[in-house]
Amino acid sequence: MIETPAVLTPALIQEMDEAMQRYGYEPSKLLEILLDIQKAVPRKYIPKAAAYYVAEKMHLKITQVYDVISFFSALHETPRAKYPIQVCSSVVCKVNHNCFVLDTLKDVLNIGLNEVTYDGRFTLEEVPCFGACDKAPAIRIHDVVYGPLTTRQQIIQIVQRLAEE
Ligand code: FES
Repeated sequence: MIETPAVLTPALIQEMDEAMQRYGYEPSKLLEILLDIQKAVPRKYIPKAAAYYVAEKMHLKITQVYDVISFFSALHETPRAKYPIQVCSSVVCKVNHNCFVLDTLKDVLNIGLNEVTYDGRFTLEEVPCFGACDKAPAIRIHDVVYGPLTTRQQIIQIVQRLAEE
């Protein structure tokens, strides 16, 4: 019988069971399973208890689960901000001055890379190309892409709008 720590709600346990069933408990599908589980967690991360639950159910070592979580940037070990701002760091955005976007966001939000604003609203991440090269330099917040971002004013407007939501 698997222990279910308090952080694992019945709804989350059901989501995890369904995710593992969907992929036939196949270890080679661990990334897909973890991505599905992460989507079901309100702050979009893999809680420690969830990682242990998956390891036990799939007969894996916990280190195997954490190897996947730490290797893939799409997976997160800690709760994310309400708005994770992802700045593309791949070549097309780079040659289109993504450093201007990153520096402006650091300045406007008053945080560094991978830090969270004091109110838990924003975090700043560098990520590889997300397929919006025609909008370079681009950022992505959840599934919404913004770009090309060439002025400080554009960036401030995006942040202000989200800060008010
Ligand atoms: S290089 Fe930035 S979105 Fe593709």
